[in-house]
Amino acid sequence: MSGHVWTRREAMLAAGALGLFPRFGLTAERKMTSRPIPSTGEELPAIGLGTYSVFDVSSTAEDIAMPQEIVDLLLGEGGSVIDTSPMYNRSEKVIGNVVDAGSPREAMFIATKVWTNGRDAGIEQMNRSAQLMNTDVIDLMQVHNLRDTDVHMKTIRDWQQNGRIRYNGLTHYTKSAFNRLESAMKQHKPDFIQINYSLGEPEADERILPLAHDMGIAVLINRPYQSGRLFRAVSGESLPEWATEFAASWGQFFLKFIISHPAVTCVIPATSKPHHMRDNLEAGFGPLPDDAMRQRMIAYMASL
Ligand SMILES: NC(=O)c1ccc[n+]([C@@H]2O[C@H](COP(=O)([O-])OP(=O)(O)OC[C@H]3O[C@@H](n4cnc5c(N)ncnc54)[C@H](OP(=O)(O)O)[C@@H]3O)[C@@H](O)[C@H]2O)c1
Repeated sequence: MSGHVWTRREAMLAAGALGLFPRFGLTAERKMTSRPIPSTGEELPAIGLGTYSVFDVSSTAEDIAMPQEIVDLLLGEGGSVIDTSPMYNRSEKVIGNVVDAGSPREAMFIATKVWTNGRDAGIEQMNRSAQLMNTDVIDLMQVHNLRDTDVHMKTIRDWQQNGRIRYNGLTHYTKSAFNRLESAMKQHKPDFIQINYSLGEPEADERILPLAHDMGIAVLINRPYQSGRLFRAVSGESLPEWATEFAASWGQFFLKFIISHPAVTCVIPATSKPHHMRDNLEAGFGPLPDDAMRQRMIAYMASL
């Protein structure tokens, strides 16, 4: 016995190397960009998946087929992070359906949220999330939009002690909450924060991202496409020649801007379409823009 306790991801990588999961096999030649979670050093692949609205479908085999294909594409390229919330209607249940239908739970890093007031309601909601997603352990439990943060962080830390939750986090989706988020980060020292950051909403770069970096807090990025608005901003425009060095599509351009920020751990674009998932995943491979290129990207978007 070596005494080393394997993380699920290490076991998955080893199983992939042994050819035990051919559908989800990871190869040495093609390894997605990853970042360590500061509180543990566990590596997290930089491209994940958001499920708001896009996974709000019924549980029929017909309706589950598309979310399952999208999740399998994510896992097949070495991605793992799937973000959901009880606020997203049927999304948690659909993730449970996808697991039941055979997508390997052990390859997923499931992030959900608690979104209610009061200790008992929070506990009830977290139990329900675990049940809906058919999972004993939730990888990341986040306080959704800082709702009743002090109360839920206490419960989440208790659950971390007994192994039902691996990491804790705080989320918001708008810059108007950054002051409150900053205070909560200093008070609670969470493992993760989840915030909005993109070429359309770059304000997190001013204080929140540097603070997360300094405090050793992992960062998930939501609204990477401003819920689709960024694509409308470039509609009719071809990707500039200089960007083709690192991006083959607008989606990759937007995502690579985000994951090239040193404080960012993983970005979670939402999609209902397998070809968009493939496009998003591609941003996890190949060169990233350097600082000078990032400035050029900002200037380009401002010029539109
Ligand atoms: N407070 C919070 O905690 C909070 C708030 C907001 C969001 N979030 C999380 O962050 C996730 C992402 O944010 P979001 O859902 O607001 O929006 P988003 O990821 O910024 O944008 C999603 C939109 O982009 C389109 N899209 C995705 N990939 C594309 C591609 N490669 N090419 C062209 N279009 C593409 C999708 O359409 P198709 O379906 O057609 O691909 C969808 O309309 C959410 O799903 C949720 O998990 C959390």
